[in-house]
Amino acid sequence: MSNITNITQRTTTYRLGDRIVNRLGYGAMQLCGPGAFGPPSDPDKARAVLQAAVAGGINHIDTSDYYGPHVTNHLIRQSLAPYQDDLVIVTKVGAKRGADGSWHPALSAAELTQAVHDNLRHLGLEALDVVNLRSMFGMLGPMEGSLEQPLSVLAELRQQGLVRHIGLSNVTATQIREARQIVPIVCVQNLYNLAHRSDDALIDALAQDGIAYVPYFPLGGFNPLQSAILTYAAQWLDVTTMQVALAWLLHRAPNILPIPGTSSPPHLQENIAAATLELPEDVLAYLDGIASAEPQDSSSA
Ligand SMILES: NC(=O)c1ccc[n+]([C@@H]2O[C@H](COP(=O)([O-])OP(=O)(O)OC[C@H]3O[C@@H](n4cnc5c(N)ncnc54)[C@H](OP(=O)(O)O)[C@@H]3O)[C@@H](O)[C@H]2O)c1
Repeated sequence: MSNITNITQRTTTYRLGDRIVNRLGYGAMQLCGPGAFGPPSDPDKARAVLQAAVAGGINHIDTSDYYGPHVTNHLIRQSLAPYQDDLVIVTKVGAKRGADGSWHPALSAAELTQAVHDNLRHLGLEALDVVNLRSMFGMLGPMEGSLEQPLSVLAELRQQGLVRHIGLSNVTATQIREARQIVPIVCVQNLYNLAHRSDDALIDALAQDGIAYVPYFPLGGFNPLQSAILTYAAQWLDVTTMQVALAWLLHRAPNILPIPGTSSPPHLQENIAAATLELPEDVLAYLDGIASAEPQDSSSA
């Protein structure tokens, strides 16, 4: 890499529904027990992470009542209620957990209605800012299939004032087009990171329409990203690999709102600091090499 210091301009905030949020958010899934199931080993630490996130300027938190189940939402309420006016809590519906932690579709009208009421009760809210419908045609990635029936249920709950805005998760471009004919869609949450870039074209198309793209597993998820390219770039910039991975997402497109998850206070501070990390153009080009070097069907590099 040369010493070129040309910086790609990027904004620090973006519209999510009817609110403006800081682009770096926080994903609360891994605050509960291993595999997003059961209670955390140290609930005080989990609460401290949530409080530090908000104190550090994060005003977009991603959750679901099926994390735990219920555990993550309880932690959020215990730690943060009464909520700051600018805090946007985004939840997901469409799945339920088995007694062994397994994941199952929960997309009937009764299950979706119950899930919205459970989220409201456990978070202590009168209306949910954003509810993502999590497609379950594929568990590990989007698969085609109509979402008309479950979306119509959410649209009705929105009419009732229980939900302010609707998003989609784990979806294809065709499903997004179908959904937007049923109800306004404010965000899409799919798997995306430096090594897993199947949604490159989709992100740019959503940006044209002002729709937020929220990459889940921004750091690689349960198998955090590892790559010689990433390590070299981090050493070059004298920061950590995870900071480079987050800064790359923030540079990639203005509508990307990363929601890195962590249960570690030092990692949280590192991630917050990444929001102001500038990546020179030549480093951005160098990091593109990760996607071409790695298979696209893996969440880890
Ligand atoms: N829509 C969906 O289907 C879906 C699926 C999965 C996740 N999500 C959402 O996406 C959010 C993000 O996903 P995720 O939390 O699973 O994955 P992630 O953010 O890609 O990575 C989290 C992992 O990275 C580690 N980590 C975080 N910051 C780090 C740092 N600075 N240095 C080193 N390691 C670090 C964490 O461990 P430590 O705890 O040790 O820091 C954890 O193991 C979730 O919280 C959830 O809200 C949505």
